[in-house]
Amino acid sequence: MTTKDKVFIITGASAGIGSELAYQLAKKGAHVVCAARTMTKLENMCKEIRDSGGSALPIQADITDKNQCEKVVAQTIKSFNKIDGLILNAGISMWAKFDEIKDISFFKTIMNTNYLGSVYCVHAALPFLKKTKGKIISCSTAQAIMGFPNHSGYVASKHALHGFLSTIRMENKEEITVLEAVLSWIKGTNLRSNSFDVNGKKQKGLTRKHTKEAIPVTQCVKTIITAIEKDLKTIYIPRKLSLIPFLKVFLNQFLERKVVSAINENKK
Ligand SMILES: NC(=O)c1ccc[n+]([C@@H]2O[C@H](COP(=O)([O-])OP(=O)(O)OC[C@H]3O[C@@H](n4cnc5c(N)ncnc54)[C@H](OP(=O)(O)O)[C@@H]3O)[C@@H](O)[C@H]2O)c1
Repeated sequence: MTTKDKVFIITGASAGIGSELAYQLAKKGAHVVCAARTMTKLENMCKEIRDSGGSALPIQADITDKNQCEKVVAQTIKSFNKIDGLILNAGISMWAKFDEIKDISFFKTIMNTNYLGSVYCVHAALPFLKKTKGKIISCSTAQAIMGFPNHSGYVASKHALHGFLSTIRMENKEEITVLEAVLSWIKGTNLRSNSFDVNGKKQKGLTRKHTKEAIPVTQCVKTIITAIEKDLKTIYIPRKLSLIPFLKVFLNQFLERKVVSAINENKK
């Protein structure tokens, strides 16, 4: 898919990967519809994009609310009359060992955002994506395809989304395409500071530092856009994550040891 003149809805566009996707796609001539809860951030970014000659529309939406997802799609159609790409990016994470969590009610927030929020957006956008033979892009994670200590609720939500999208891909094979970007740790985003801790509170100010292996957000987004342009089904960032499906089947104990040591390196 070429990106010039294409209309992309980006959920979670007010920060991190979503914001960078908006800037880079707009620079390539795409129309970007930027959705998130924090309207001031969206308005500022969209103004910046428009001031430099791009096309961007901010829409305030909390994707845990089905009506608000439908509103994003309806406003996109009203403004641009089509949707070529739906980027499922809005997300929230956690860092807490399951048996140390007192109140697990934040699991619902994670599931409602990462899984159901995406389902609502796909449900509303799918008829329009079929008309353009468009694409769903998911900002996924290695944690969608394997377990990960301290992330039980996040892992479950991303597995659910992965399973859902695998089915959407099969059901609509002739009409749309689906790209899953399987990401490792990306630096330059707010995911860690916004993640839930053992008390169900955001970890603001207490975030762990990234290791030197973390990928800069600009580089990650450039690779995702190349994968969109090449119509890939899956992109692993960094590429070594593509070994995970193989290791899970043939060397699972080794894989789990590697993950535990990666988690330990990422502790504060
Ligand atoms: N960073 C990483 O290391 C990494 C690795 C693998 C996968 N990912 C995935 O990449 C995606 C983006 O992560 P990021 O690192 O860019 O995180 P981020 O900097 O925290 O950005 C998250 C975005 O999601 C939005 N959001 C959260 N809840 C929302 C809701 N209920 N409704 C609408 N928007 C909502 C936030 O905006 P508002 O608060 O304004 O609503 C924000 O724009 C996530 O799905 C994450 O799981 C990230």
